[in-house]
Amino acid sequence: MTERLAPDAPGLARAAALLAEGAQVAFPTETVYGLGADARNGRAVAGIFAAKGRPSFNPLIVHVPTLETAAALVELSPEAERLAATFWPGALTLVLPARPGNGISELVSAGLPSLGIRIPAHPLARALLEAFGGPVAAPSANPSGRVSPTTAAHVLSGLDGRIAAVLDGGACPVGLESTIVGLTGQPTLLRAGGIPAEALEACLGAPLAAPPANDTPTSPGQLASHYAPQGTLRLNAEAPEPGETYLGFGPGDADLTLSASGDLTEAAANLFACLHALDARGATRIAVAPIPDHGLGRAINDRLRRAAAPRP
Ligand code: TXA
Ligand code: MG
Repeated sequence: MTERLAPDAPGLARAAALLAEGAQVAFPTETVYGLGADARNGRAVAGIFAAKGRPSFNPLIVHVPTLETAAALVELSPEAERLAATFWPGALTLVLPARPGNGISELVSAGLPSLGIRIPAHPLARALLEAFGGPVAAPSANPSGRVSPTTAAHVLSGLDGRIAAVLDGGACPVGLESTIVGLTGQPTLLRAGGIPAEALEACLGAPLAAPPANDTPTSPGQLASHYAPQGTLRLNAEAPEPGETYLGFGPGDADLTLSASGDLTEAAANLFACLHALDARGATRIAVAPIPDHGLGRAINDRLRRAAAPRP
């Protein structure tokens, strides 16, 4: 049963305690309800994908209460500081270079060296972030393929019984997701949203570029923004061939394992860290054990297929 928490001190304390335990908690922001989890806890983040039934790992937005906490996680460029000064707290997400060793689970950014970050304006979101005292990863709190929720009732209609709690803050005032601006290179409009692009361009004094054409989820294996290891991958391998590095799942010998116990949540939490570790050891031919194709296994297999697809 999903707890429905009132927007008062006990409700906030309960929501913060659940986040600290690694549970998934929906909470209101000024844009839409987010499905939050501790961004430093890979298993908690994997639980977000499990609850949403998301068949792939999209990078998630990290929510923080202040500019100081943001600055500890990402490198704020002059453009970022300018946009932040005008539009934060608010319906703007900035994608910025992540600070190495910032403690954020690799699953949050799908292994990318960047991080999407936002300071929400909703008083309950801010109170929850302060009470929890850590970064909260949160996509919209809807099952995969459904529209974003703007009331607690919407959240429950999609996720009742699949998440620990929803903090009921009534209807979201903006009702549209945040605008996403990429600032890892030329300032780019990655998603239109609650703040008009014109307002951002006026603040920057320059136009925003359109996202690269190959950056759409309809072209598997072509996603420029998705991390793939250097080596080639052979999937569904029961055992490695000579010269292959074996990425295991479940019991048995392996060079590296996603989950020795065969736990899909643990495997999801470890996936991107394992891909990076394969690069670090210089693996050129990688064999990957079969992963069951249900629950989080579907998202893991989707990511592995993209990593294994022929590269341009
Ligand atoms: O208003 C919102 O943005 C809501 C509330 C809860 O904050 N959140 C939301 O999250 O809409 P979600 O997961 O539905 O959308 C997040 C988007 C994804 O399309 C993802 O591709 C992009 O943010 N994103 C996040 N981190 C990124 C990164 N490092 N690089 C590129 N895109 C990123
Ligand atoms: Mg969404």
